Amino acid sequence: MLQDLQQLPPDPILGLSAACAADPNPQKVDLGAGVYKDEQGRTPIMSAIKKAEQAWIQEEDTKAYTPQMGVAGFADAITKLLLGDGHPALARARTLQCPGGSGALQVAARVLKRARDDVTIWLSDPSWPNHRPLLSSAGVALQDYPYYDPRTHAVDFGALTAALNRADPGNVVLIHGCCHNPCGADLDEDQWRALAVQLNDRQLTPFIDIAYQGLGEGLDEDAFGVRYLAEHCPELVVASSASKNFGLYRERVGGVTFVTASGEQSERVRSHGASVARGLYSLPPAHGGALVTRVLQSVELNREWRQELEGVRERINAMRAALAEAMRERLNDGRFDFVARQRGMFSFLGLSAAQVETLRQDHSIYMVASSRINVAGLTAANVAYVADAVAAVL
Ligand code: LMR
Repeated sequence: MLQDLQQLPPDPILGLSAACAADPNPQKVDLGAGVYKDEQGRTPIMSAIKKAEQAWIQEEDTKAYTPQMGVAGFADAITKLLLGDGHPALARARTLQCPGGSGALQVAARVLKRARDDVTIWLSDPSWPNHRPLLSSAGVALQDYPYYDPRTHAVDFGALTAALNRADPGNVVLIHGCCHNPCGADLDEDQWRALAVQLNDRQLTPFIDIAYQGLGEGLDEDAFGVRYLAEHCPELVVASSASKNFGLYRERVGGVTFVTASGEQSERVRSHGASVARGLYSLPPAHGGALVTRVLQSVELNREWRQELEGVRERINAMRAALAEAMRERLNDGRFDFVARQRGMFSFLGLSAAQVETLRQDHSIYMVASSRINVAGLTAANVAYVADAVAAVL
């Protein structure tokens, strides 16, 4: 039976890391998968995480199963990180620890499907390329709403709202909380407010995917949308990830948060999340969740982590400015100024798939075929090389 399965092509994002690693060119630049890199091109373990890990290894005294909702303290710590201290919806919110943001998305989609068998989830066009396969495997129907205008390099809010006016009551709208992947263009505060009105008018349920909290403008600023909708919409589902803001990519730690009319109701919904998880992978892994909880609960580690995260954010934004400036010098125009205006790890360079391929073949510069770059792959040492190559293929 298994002999009928054919080899699949490499993953369109993860395959780039492997291809770049195998490239012998010393000038190669990996702008592919969304992984933070420092000025030396390394993905360091954050020092607050390293300290939490050392303490945890000393203290951990069992490898018995993790509790179904996650390691003790994780759910409350993540709910507070998302909503902020004193948020009016805290008492109505419940979080379930999941294996990464991807696990959180999968659990959320399956809970939505249980709540409503004919559920449709609206996805931004474009969206993270893995959203579609991941969510369809939960059995939900998918629809697209226009989001990014490549001419302005910003959100096409008029087209977005026009599309959502065609959504049926009971539909779910997946929104990137911040640092949109792949386009780097985010909703502004007025747009979040207007979106909340429209969602409520049309009885649509918001579902926020927030995988980059703290990498855009700041931990609080990046959570504006989550906090606003949690306060102003009757229900909200949030999938969050600790891969990027805690640098815990390989530990697979994230959460799904349900905000409903009451704490009791959210508790009931979360029990379905735990039951979905039981049928998929049983329980979340403990290690990453324990580290996140420790960092968030400790005054000192929390402070240290926030400082490190600020450094990450500042470096990404500095590289955005550096690339925009380098392109301005080469093209004598502001065509790439948008890179400096956008936020998070990603921007579209607006190149064709053929140009992306030339960058890879002739310059060993790796990016997703859509011309999405991971800005964190740029360094002071390689930004001129990248800008020269991009100018050459234009
Ligand atoms: C990305 O979009 O590059 C990251 O979220 C990594 C992934 O899993 O695709």
